[in-house]
Amino acid sequence: TDKPFGVNLITMHPQLTDLIEVCGRHGIGHVVLAGGIPPKGSVEAIKGFGAKVLVFAPTLALAKKLLRSGGDALVIEGMEAGGHIGPVSTSVLAQEMLPELHEDYLVFVAGGIGRGEAIAGYLEMGAVGVQLGTRFACATESIAHPDFKKAFFRASAREAVASVQVDPRLPVIPVRALKNKGTEHFTAKQREVAGLLDSESLEMAEAQLQIEHYWAGALRRAVIDGDVENGSLMAGQSVGMVKAEEPVADIIAELMSESEAALARR
Ligand SMILES: Cc1cc2nc3c(=O)[nH]c(=O)nc-3n(C[C@H](O)[C@H](O)[C@H](O)COP(=O)(O)O)c2cc1C
Repeated sequence: TDKPFGVNLITMHPQLTDLIEVCGRHGIGHVVLAGGIPPKGSVEAIKGFGAKVLVFAPTLALAKKLLRSGGDALVIEGMEAGGHIGPVSTSVLAQEMLPELHEDYLVFVAGGIGRGEAIAGYLEMGAVGVQLGTRFACATESIAHPDFKKAFFRASAREAVASVQVDPRLPVIPVRALKNKGTEHFTAKQREVAGLLDSESLEMAEAQLQIEHYWAGALRRAVIDGDVENGSLMAGQSVGMVKAEEPVADIIAELMSESEAALARR
């Protein structure tokens, strides 16, 4: 494409530095550093080739620190979102962060947004934009498997649940996804590994690794291979508002008209 576009990089990726270098070589204009606190030097490396850096922060103090040290914009993402999540809701994060930050910094709001009225609300509070994932996962342009899309169309908000940690010794990073057989197996797996720890048949490091690696490749299994029983059906609570396959342009047009109508009513 000759249009500007951005790349999303997960901060805990072992080859993050190499990935940033690839972005530089291809003249990427915007890089989102997602999934955790950006490691030392990563923001500087991206700015070094002239791209804008968008950072995530779970607390106001960290948001301020990242923005002061070079982040060009901030994304705040609440626990209603699909995928990896923190513990706090979008509405509370927005109330905590936007009044403090919006005059000096660019802030985007994400998590649980399914309609334009909600977008209008966050814009009014000072956000410069919003980020939606769940609403677009089943767009016509999305390469997701038809069975993955079908699971979204059928699901309601209450089926998009956060993964549960069973044992304090075995940390689980919460992920919001549709309930399926994989979710149940994951709980059983945690119990099994905890049992092996109790009976001292497994070392702690190996036990934690087994839990950490349980979902490796699971999103791909669901999205690409269509294994909707065992793969990870990452979805936010707004999944109940996703009813049919629609072109991205139509989704955006609908969101914009809802948002404009809401703002016009005020
Ligand atoms: C299937 C799926 C995969 C996602 N993968 C990523 C990812 O790789 N990196 C990322 O930063 N966010 C990812 N997200 C989160 C979105 O970027 C976005 O912040 C989130 O979906 C917003 O909340 P919503 O799901 O309520 O719209 C993903 C979300 C979904 C639903």
